[in-house]
Amino acid sequence: MRYFILFLFFISSNAFSDNLDTSLSLPCLGCHGKSTNLTIPSLYGLDEDYIYNSLMDYKLDNRKNYLMQLISKGYSEQQIRILSYYFSKGYNNNE
Ligand code: HEC
Repeated sequence: MRYFILFLFFISSNAFSDNLDTSLSLPCLGCHGKSTNLTIPSLYGLDEDYIYNSLMDYKLDNRKNYLMQLISKGYSEQQIRILSYYFSKGYNNNE
């Protein structure tokens, strides 16, 4: 029984982290699509540190872009880490 509960916990915590990735990144996709053909660059497959540093620079007003300065302030540093990792993994067709 104890192992069964641990198993359930394992399944649900995985489901939770997947949902977290998706719900944090959904607002970004309205502008940053999959295609590299857009004026606004795609984020998929960019270097994790590059995404992280860009977002932190916007958040701290060290990099200027009106929209991104606003948007990045809505995310905590921890959430920015999750987003950077998520996008750096590249686009996954199963999502
Ligand atoms: C309203 C449209 C919009 C939304 C929504 C948006 N962005 Fe942006 N983003 C931009 C624009 C415009 C730029 C500037 C592109 C440039 O400098 O040419 C940008 C730039 C960036 C850059 C720097 C890219 C580079 O190549 O240097 C990163 C990283 C980024 N956004 C991440 C995000 C993340 C993560 C989200 C979701 C939390 C998000 N953006 C949501 C419009 C948006």
